[in-house]
Amino acid sequence: MVLRYGGDYNPELTPESVWDEDIRLMKQARVNLVTVGVFSWALLEPRDGEFEFGWLDRILDKLHAAGIAVDLATATASPPPWLSVAHPETLPEDMFGVRSWPGSRQAYAPTSPIYLAYSRRLVRQMAERYATHPAVVLWHINNELGAHTNLDYGPAAEVAFRTWLQQKYGTIERLNEVWFTQFWSQRYDAFSQVRPPRKAPNWRNPAQLLDFQRFSSDALLSVFLGEKEIVKAVNPDIPVLTNFIGAFKPVNYQQFAPHVDLVSDDSYPDPLDPRSPMLAAFARDLMRSLSGGAPWLLLEQAAGYVNWRPVNTTKRRGQMRAWSLQAVSRGADGIMFFQIRQSRAGAEKFHSGMLPHSGERSRVWRSVVELGADLERISAVEGQRATESRVAILFDWEAWWAIEEGSKPTPIDYYENVIRWYQPLYQANVQVDIIHPSHDLDQYSVLVLPNLYLLSEADATRIAAFVQRGGRLVATYLTGIVDENDHVAESGYLRGLESALGVWIDDFAALAKGAQAGPTSVDVTSETLGDFRGTEWSEYIEVTTAEVVARFCGLDVDGLPAVTRNRHGAGEAWYVATMPDDRTIARIIDGVRRDAGVAAVVEGLPGGVEAARRGDHLFIINQTDAGVVVDVPGRDLLSGRAQGPFDLGPFEALVLTDREES
Ligand code: GLA
Repeated sequence: MVLRYGGDYNPELTPESVWDEDIRLMKQARVNLVTVGVFSWALLEPRDGEFEFGWLDRILDKLHAAGIAVDLATATASPPPWLSVAHPETLPEDMFGVRSWPGSRQAYAPTSPIYLAYSRRLVRQMAERYATHPAVVLWHINNELGAHTNLDYGPAAEVAFRTWLQQKYGTIERLNEVWFTQFWSQRYDAFSQVRPPRKAPNWRNPAQLLDFQRFSSDALLSVFLGEKEIVKAVNPDIPVLTNFIGAFKPVNYQQFAPHVDLVSDDSYPDPLDPRSPMLAAFARDLMRSLSGGAPWLLLEQAAGYVNWRPVNTTKRRGQMRAWSLQAVSRGADGIMFFQIRQSRAGAEKFHSGMLPHSGERSRVWRSVVELGADLERISAVEGQRATESRVAILFDWEAWWAIEEGSKPTPIDYYENVIRWYQPLYQANVQVDIIHPSHDLDQYSVLVLPNLYLLSEADATRIAAFVQRGGRLVATYLTGIVDENDHVAESGYLRGLESALGVWIDDFAALAKGAQAGPTSVDVTSETLGDFRGTEWSEYIEVTTAEVVARFCGLDVDGLPAVTRNRHGAGEAWYVATMPDDRTIARIIDGVRRDAGVAAVVEGLPGGVEAARRGDHLFIINQTDAGVVVDVPGRDLLSGRAQGPFDLGPFEALVLTDREES
């Protein structure tokens, strides 16, 4: 039983004479896993078809001799200059037709047959040489697929998009139907006329845009699958991963996750943002949900600062440890960094490493060594699953793409709005899964649907049945508005949830935003929730069977329902027709989950103190910079303290167990 600890190790960035020193330091920090070779293509294949593996052989042997395992990259993330010189058509193009040039990284069109042929040749070489190397325990396919190049509109994409559409629709008539091309004279006569949705004079066809997002995400998945097939053919026993990037809009990880052997995430919360612990918790809950509750890996984080925000501050004392333990508490079986040794030159020289420019005599290195020891103390948690969540937020990439496509009553920030509803669950330490609407719902007692704009009939029916059986549901405005093709149903809004919710939507009345003329909020009055102000949205709704919990007060919607609740079968469904303030959102969520009998992991902890359970371990993490006292039963594996009450300083944590000391 051991938690993984380590980071990206790029031996090509230091002279070979330093490698032994690198390994000595890794051992000092208790590093047991490193990711090697992510950006090494130009060194591994300096000229077309000429491979130089000697340096990689030597470092893998050294790492193995030191007992450090390797997550070996396929090295396809950054094609070498010679490839784009010989084949400029491998470079991606944006919607304006502007081609990205080499000189950075990820300069490839994901559907370029030439890129795919060259990258796969390299992967084959790598697999044949290293798939049985004793150091290699994981394959790291490509890197952060789509991080920089996710929507490519170039000639290769055009061909691949057509093929994808032909496979999806079979006939051009069906495509015309789904894309509703009778609108604005967009009718196609043949697939050969269809193109990626490049810059156009006015709004582009929304169904085409949605399909292009799906296609582009699928194209990145195909890059992954193509490489995976090659490494698996040589040795099927080595698990394969690629690093996700949290809730990253361009790539549909709900479709991706079933294809990786191990879910892994790269996570760089901003130390300046007070919401960072919550946003990180959301990403961790998403990863745990993507892996079906099984452990996952935090594959990259920063030991201190990053280099890509306008201002990049370092983590405060204890913050790196708190955020690392948070990942473990929410299912991570390993904590890794980008990167082991901070680079001395290049675009990332001011991105922190485990070993900073200032070397061993540094606060960052000391914190890295301490974390290595901490992870050893809690190694019994390895492999343990989080307790089953009873609350889920229904979250869907396709709904995200569709709702943010523009030409809507108001611009919606889907992720932000989801976070608004996640926040009270996070703050109350209620464990929540982040799942797709088609996910099995049996284990849940409460479902939250913030702006689930796109919803299939089948999923709507299952969600309504969930309520009928006794489940509790909270849905907000702009839920169930369109089907998978971005079409509004003949029957109107709410797609099959009307009787569960017991409301009828007559008309939308978006509220002004920012500097726009008009009211940006509306008063809402409620005896049970208290009065509050709604923002972003209001609606003209009628209740059919629901009871009115809150009413709009003012504007044209004066007196109309703003929040409703409806008994449906053995369950209850709430509808919220505006964006309430945080306090009211918390009241709604708290009431619903308490009615459903859902308890927090630990009730009543001081604000900013997190609790999460994995197996027989209870994690308590103080995410604030003030000391707190926490009285919870158990022995703390981190400090060895036998029992509470526990004083927790800023960013300090407990990992409690009731098991006897072994
Ligand atoms: C991503 C990449 C890494 C590195 C970090 C910097 O996660 O995968 O190679 O560039 O960003 O934050």
